[in-house]
Amino acid sequence: MIKQANWIKAPADFGEVCPVFKKTFAASKEVAGATVLLSAIGVYEAHLNGKRIGDFIFAPGWTAYQSRVQFQEYDITGLLLKENPHEPEKPPVSENTLEITLGRGWSGAFSWYRHITYPQYPQSAIICAIKLKYADGTEEIIISDESFNAAKSNILYSDIYDGEIYDARPSKKEWVPAEIADYPKDILIPQQGDYVREIEEIKPVKFIKTLIKERIIDFGQNLTGYVKINTKKPSGDVIEFRHAEVLREKGTFRFYTENLRTALQRMTYISNGEQTEYKPHFTFQGFRYIKLDKWSGDVDLDDFTAVVVHSDMKRTGYFECSNEKVNQLFKNIIWGQKGNFLDVPTDCPQRDERCGWTGDAQVFVRTASYNYDVKRFFEKWLADLAAEQYEDGGVPAVIPNPIGEMYANSTAWGDAAVICPWQIYLTYGDSDILKTQFDSMKKWVDYVRSVADENLIWTEGTHFGDWLALDNGEGANSGATPKEYIATAYFAYSTSLLIKAWKVLMKDSCEKNSIKNELCRKNPSQYDLDETDPIKNNLNEMELSEYENLYKDIVAAFQNEYIKDGKLTVKTQTAHAVALYFDLCGENKASTVKDLADMVIANGNKLTTGFVGTPYLLHALSDNGYSEVAYSLLLQEEFPSWLFSVNKGATTIWEHWDGIKEDGSFWSEGMNSFNHYAFGAVADWMYGVVCGINTDENAPGFEHVILKPVPDKRLEHASASIDTKYGKLSSKWHYEGESGKIIYELEVPNTATITIGDNTYETGKGIHRYETDHDQIN
Ligand code: BGC
Repeated sequence: MIKQANWIKAPADFGEVCPVFKKTFAASKEVAGATVLLSAIGVYEAHLNGKRIGDFIFAPGWTAYQSRVQFQEYDITGLLLKENPHEPEKPPVSENTLEITLGRGWSGAFSWYRHITYPQYPQSAIICAIKLKYADGTEEIIISDESFNAAKSNILYSDIYDGEIYDARPSKKEWVPAEIADYPKDILIPQQGDYVREIEEIKPVKFIKTLIKERIIDFGQNLTGYVKINTKKPSGDVIEFRHAEVLREKGTFRFYTENLRTALQRMTYISNGEQTEYKPHFTFQGFRYIKLDKWSGDVDLDDFTAVVVHSDMKRTGYFECSNEKVNQLFKNIIWGQKGNFLDVPTDCPQRDERCGWTGDAQVFVRTASYNYDVKRFFEKWLADLAAEQYEDGGVPAVIPNPIGEMYANSTAWGDAAVICPWQIYLTYGDSDILKTQFDSMKKWVDYVRSVADENLIWTEGTHFGDWLALDNGEGANSGATPKEYIATAYFAYSTSLLIKAWKVLMKDSCEKNSIKNELCRKNPSQYDLDETDPIKNNLNEMELSEYENLYKDIVAAFQNEYIKDGKLTVKTQTAHAVALYFDLCGENKASTVKDLADMVIANGNKLTTGFVGTPYLLHALSDNGYSEVAYSLLLQEEFPSWLFSVNKGATTIWEHWDGIKEDGSFWSEGMNSFNHYAFGAVADWMYGVVCGINTDENAPGFEHVILKPVPDKRLEHASASIDTKYGKLSSKWHYEGESGKIIYELEVPNTATITIGDNTYETGKGIHRYETDHDQIN
């Protein structure tokens, strides 16, 4: 229905003022029900008869706008006027007013380039269809066209990075007919992701006046959203404040905005003289503090509320232990997810980026999927990834992609195309994600195959490498692990996951078609399979065997290139962690993990890893008998470590291990976010090893659970739980007094294989209790 409507825009001379569109309509008969379908190039907020339609913030969300723009459907029956309020003696004829305010949002000058991202949409536009269902069974459809009027709204300026300027003073609106925008309609798709909503509110904890007379309000938590003010100022009075994540401690103590780069994060409000509650419309900020640059009179903290905004995902995962600093770390990871899951998995929410960096999402996806139900969230984002993927299978660095081909195809970033769907399949056990993403997954592996050398070592291209690792000298962005080493390792890993996905789909397809697996797999073309069936379209055993051979060849090439005399030739923590986690060491596993553990211990139980090595480091150690060393890294408090940032007062995860250095100074201004979830990927080790919660790959979605908690005496107790689709899964353990005994209480929603010390038990649904001695923990 929405495709019958027209894209409409405001006259170009509105400049930077956000337009508001208006349509009045009367229902000619008694109405039984009404809906409205809405979308925009930009972000919209709609009201019917003065009441807000729905509660989706930043609708219609952010997608690959050149090919996919979501539309939303709202039931507006309850918002329609029942009768003409002015002439009650006449038959019920309702004169309703629909108003839609429009901001540029992500379709504007987005990314740090600040140029127009989507030149095909030079102006923002809306599209809308109202459907009135009458009691007599007939219908009437009202569509957006030139009969809609446009006027300047009170939002004089709006930008995601820079904030908003809002003039609350009444002004006479000059309504002019809206203009038709010649934008395509085949890009319109129904809402696919989660709705973005205002999720919680936080009151200030402190008012700070610095020696240089700055008035700062501290909300006690670094967050993403905006500030709501409730105040009364004289008409024309200007309120202005900026947002920041941290205060500068070293040198002059002050508000610190240098790490925001060009993002102003500034709100300006011009009062109309009334008591008003005001919050901005089409902008969000990453902040813990605001600085009042213009505020007349005293400051009453009651007038300020921080509104936390993110995709409305259901919380599913919890972790708690006896170490309060580790608990704070876990809390910071949760806040990192809240702050960066605003419709798209972003790197950070504050500086002039806020983009869907593929590498960051890939690193964090498992943790994210345990903490919250992110199935829909990733289905949408991965559909955008597939839509943005290049013909040759290459993957842009950010999805949706406002930066063109720059930085595209980096190893570990582009691999998000394979790793993310595989993880979403594992966590939720629904193979549809593999079915819809399979082409994209295969295209990425084929792309890497096409650009790797003849001997399957991937030496070409631009790669980020072990981003922000510490083993390459002060100030380096990429760590010391050679990029071609990482690239070849990921080539092998993604190929192995593609093969697994392939097998899942073949199995599914044969089962669905009730064809004997063996026969169908061998020769799918003989069977009358559904056109959409992946097996029909080239997924067959013969081609699969080609990829299985490819995988073996990459592993052999890797070993040939990087293992000499049973040792990895690249002597970095990341090189070892990756080789172990991706299972590339062959018979040299034991010596590789020993070398890794020795390196960590020789470095004072401290890590040196960046984005690539960090998510695997602890797993590589504990999977291979060195859980004590992994625990030492988790519990390390000196720089560099996770708890170093906690000791420095962090309430979210920092981009850099040394975002704030020991002496209180900052890492360089250019790239120093305090809300970057990537290093928070350590939470999947807390769930998966400390509490031992894992799903069986052959019965994913926790249909069959593998439970193998690995306690350590340095924690008295730990517990984690995940709400799975089969019910609650939880794992708790504690040390009992001085006895050295460990008591376990495990609740499984289905069957499970439980390993406690040296013993393995096959169990059914229910609560299971065990005890063991510390010495039995491996
Ligand atoms: C982002 C990262 C991203 C990186 C690419 C940065 O500017 O904030 O998180 O992955 O660029 O290396």
